[in-house]
Amino acid sequence: MNMMMSSVHFNLIIILQFLPFSFLALSHLDTTAKLCSTVDDRLPITCKGTEREALLDFKKGLTDPSSRLSSWGGTDCCKWYGIECSDQTGHVTKIDLRNPYKFFNGGEFDSEAYKRSCLGGKIEVSLARLQNLSDLDLSLNDFEGIQIPNFFGEIKSLRYLNLSFASFSGEIPPHLGNLSSLEYLDLYADSFSTTGTWDLQSENLQWLSGLFSLKSLNLGFVKLDKVGANWLPQVNLLSSLVELKLRFCGLQGLPQSFPILNFTSLSVLDLSDNSFGSPMPLWLFNLTSLTKLHLVWNFFNGPIPSEVTNLNSLEVLDLAANLYLEGQIPRFLGNLSKLQILDLSGNNFSGKIHDFLDRFKAFPKSSLVSIDLSSNSLEGFLPESLGNLRSLQHLILSGNSFWGSIPASVRTLSEMRVLDLSYNEMNGTIPKGIGKLSNLVNLDLKSNSWVGVVTESHLMNLTNLENLWLTTEPTKSLVFDVPYQWVPPFSLIAIRLQNCRVGPKFPRWLQAQSELSTVSLVSAGISDTIPESWFTRLSSQLVLLDLSKNQIKGKLPQEFVCPKLNAIDLSSNHFDGPVPLFSTNASQIFLHDNLFSGSIPENFGQQMPRLEKLYLSWNHLSGGIPSSLCDIASLQVLALRNNHLTGELPNCWFHSLTLWAVDVTNNSLSGPIPTSMGFLPSLTILMLGNNKFSGEIPSSLQNCSGLTSIDLCKNRFTGNLPSWIGRREASLFMLKIHSNKFGGHVPEELCNLLNLRILDLSDNEFSGVIPNCLQNLTAFVNVNISSQAFVGQIWSVLKGREPDYSSIIANANSINLSGNNLTGKLPSEMTSLSALQSLNLSRNYISGSIPKEIANLEYLQTLDLSHNHLSGQIPQSLSSVTSLTKLNLSYNDLQGRIPPLPKFQDASIFEGNPSLCGDPLPTKCKEN
Ligand SMILES: *[C@@H]1O[C@H](CO)[C@@H](O)[C@H](O)[C@H]1NC(C)=O
Ligand SMILES: *[C@@H]1O[C@H](CO)[C@@H](O)[C@H](O)[C@H]1NC(C)=O
Ligand SMILES: *[C@@H]1O[C@H](CO)[C@@H](O)[C@H](O)[C@H]1NC(C)=O
Ligand SMILES: *[C@@H]1O[C@H](CO)[C@@H](O)[C@H](O)[C@H]1NC(C)=O
Ligand SMILES: *[C@@H]1O[C@H](CO)[C@@H](O)[C@H](O)[C@H]1NC(C)=O
Ligand SMILES: *[C@@H]1O[C@H](CO)[C@@H](O)[C@H](O)[C@H]1NC(C)=O
Repeated sequence: MNMMMSSVHFNLIIILQFLPFSFLALSHLDTTAKLCSTVDDRLPITCKGTEREALLDFKKGLTDPSSRLSSWGGTDCCKWYGIECSDQTGHVTKIDLRNPYKFFNGGEFDSEAYKRSCLGGKIEVSLARLQNLSDLDLSLNDFEGIQIPNFFGEIKSLRYLNLSFASFSGEIPPHLGNLSSLEYLDLYADSFSTTGTWDLQSENLQWLSGLFSLKSLNLGFVKLDKVGANWLPQVNLLSSLVELKLRFCGLQGLPQSFPILNFTSLSVLDLSDNSFGSPMPLWLFNLTSLTKLHLVWNFFNGPIPSEVTNLNSLEVLDLAANLYLEGQIPRFLGNLSKLQILDLSGNNFSGKIHDFLDRFKAFPKSSLVSIDLSSNSLEGFLPESLGNLRSLQHLILSGNSFWGSIPASVRTLSEMRVLDLSYNEMNGTIPKGIGKLSNLVNLDLKSNSWVGVVTESHLMNLTNLENLWLTTEPTKSLVFDVPYQWVPPFSLIAIRLQNCRVGPKFPRWLQAQSELSTVSLVSAGISDTIPESWFTRLSSQLVLLDLSKNQIKGKLPQEFVCPKLNAIDLSSNHFDGPVPLFSTNASQIFLHDNLFSGSIPENFGQQMPRLEKLYLSWNHLSGGIPSSLCDIASLQVLALRNNHLTGELPNCWFHSLTLWAVDVTNNSLSGPIPTSMGFLPSLTILMLGNNKFSGEIPSSLQNCSGLTSIDLCKNRFTGNLPSWIGRREASLFMLKIHSNKFGGHVPEELCNLLNLRILDLSDNEFSGVIPNCLQNLTAFVNVNISSQAFVGQIWSVLKGREPDYSSIIANANSINLSGNNLTGKLPSEMTSLSALQSLNLSRNYISGSIPKEIANLEYLQTLDLSHNHLSGQIPQSLSSVTSLTKLNLSYNDLQGRIPPLPKFQDASIFEGNPSLCGDPLPTKCKEN
């Protein structure tokens, strides 16, 4: 159970993912209010000896690590913790052992502390001797999957039984059906147990029929799938029901029609998470006493029926996350005059928001407190009539296509706490009136196309603001214009501004914010330095720091101790000086594209146990690569491209089971590829280009069976291309080894590389013939084979940076074997590589003729066969390769008439073939 609920109503993703479980689970904790066990001291009640013994026996069966039951020992059991007795008779009437663990404390769930606070163990049958017991509450404890005891059915006096969140499992004993006085039954079976997952179930609900008095029934998370469609008639026998909660029970179907409703006093109905997959049945709307209707995640479809207006006591209408509810947002919802909470998020509603909101013009006293229309297909602008919804506290409209400005009338919504317009197309301005919303806690305006200026008056009275998110498109002009000396009235926890000009100075008002844990000022036009004191002060509390894409100058502190940090992104700035020594649990460190210099600290890898991504590319780093990087067991990407690093790659890669990308391109590294790289089972991308590496490809590398990309270009590697390369059948996408001293034959095994898209062996010393099995390279044969995964990996390692990225991707579908000592013929099999876009065989010793089937290469753009010994005629068919834009056939022994190639009028591409004639060569052909 996820307990990090800090921003439940703030983040759409969280709403969609967690709300159905955690949020309602927790609000459930709220509503099943704690029984209070006050004992009136004036009355001389002492408990019955037999009941005292029964309780002591019950205690013996329990485990109680936090000694909650330490008071259970004296003679007067009525004074024991959690026990209450009758004033008149002295009989025990209540046992309240609900776990008092504070789930909301700080928002984080401490499973150890929770476990310690739990009662557990066995429930002794002695409890059945308490024949006057009316209330029993064992909720939120952890009974680790024991069954609900049958003998609970013998405690006939029970009126209140709460076993929710207590990790009972198995079949609910039908004996509970004997509890004819029971008014409240809560068996909600979700659990916080850390020791296992437990399923509570009921094969049929016949036992319910005995519970004549039942007013409140909660069987949430109890498996009722075996009950079949019969659940409704069974529940319908309970004519006194006021609350019915059957969330996530696996109910099989909700009948569209139903003869007679018995539970007409029902006030609360929760059938969420049962995946009914039908339209909403109309009989639901005969339940005219309903105040709360929760029908989340049921895949209901179709429009909201107008019968909903029968429910004129309705306060909560929650139809979130059904995905297929559609049509206009009905204006008749405006007739529900008591409606406080309307949640239609996560559906397919369409139409214009202004039509819907204008409906409320007629109701100046709207009771709506919360409206959530997020993640629908709504459009339109926010009308001034929005200002009529005076009680509104939550307005969540993210993920639609709303445009325009925020209406000025927003200033009247003084109760507003959460305003979320993120992920829309808002292309207007933000009115100053927003500055009047002094209760506002979360203001989320990210991912829109805002323009205009945000000034002090927009923010002056936002004394409760904690989260401020405002991002616009890079092409828009949005300026954050507050005086340098401004002191904000709020204390933010999170700020995210993107493409919103805050600079050129580093905002002083931000420096005064002492509670910040998330700071993201991306493309904010800051060209200042950051005071070291600011880093020092915030480093202990920061969770996210993203200042990327500014022109921030200066040095970072030498040591960066930030235990709570998840990610730091200072990329694309002008930071200089040394890279700091981090001591952090962060998973991402992005410092690429700066002016950092000096060497990477020797012990850099030592205090970052969770680091996954380290990007130091495009800096001025010198010195060696410290072997302490091998100690980061969680490392996934090591990107050191474009620096001045020297020395050898450390040979200590024994622990990095998840390292999938190593990019050290464009440095001055030397020595061999370390054999220990064979211990990197996840290695996918190995880019060592443009260094001074030497030696042979180590055979250990054949263990890296997931390699997709190998770039060893421009080094001093020697030896053969190992034949095991061909065993990377499915994986290898890119094999680039140009400008080295590889020799020997081109191994036939290369033909096994079914996904190869880039093959560049140029400028080496390969000799022998071109293997004639190249038609087996199916990625060159079949245009439809996708290279998206590969492109995505490269994008991620290069951080989308042009031109490094495009120079790699531009080579897709190319074979380059130029500048070797290859002999023999141009294998005709090559003409079946119909997805090929570039073929370069120049500067070899290839002889024979150009096969006329060359015309099969219908996507060919570049063909370079120059500087070989090709003979015979240029095939006429070459004229039909219309995609061709670069051609070079110079310096061969070609002869006869050049076929008509109107695009190629440059004579030099044919020169050096003494026997060629015709256009564009000056040599005229002889007739015949
Ligand atoms: C309504 O409930 C009563 C008992 O409370 C039961 O006898 C009767 O059969 C129920 N009616 C229907 C239609 O289920
Ligand atoms: C619901 O109400 C309508 C109209 O009052 C009535 O015809 C119908 O029988 C009712 N349905 C149920 C299931 O009570
Ligand atoms: C905002 O977007 C709407 C809808 O696309 C468009 O009609 C309107 O002209 C745009 N306004 C501005 C100021 O760009
Ligand atoms: C801020 O609040 C003060 C005092 O309540 C008020 O005088 C002032 O007009 C408000 N400013 C804005 C911009 O709403
Ligand atoms: C490649 O050919 C060149 C020129 O003929 C020759 O000097 C060189 O030794 C050859 N290299 C290999 C490895 O065959
Ligand atoms: C090429 O593929 C064919 C058919 O799949 C297979 O028989 C042959 O062995 C392959 N050739 C090579 C060199 O892999």
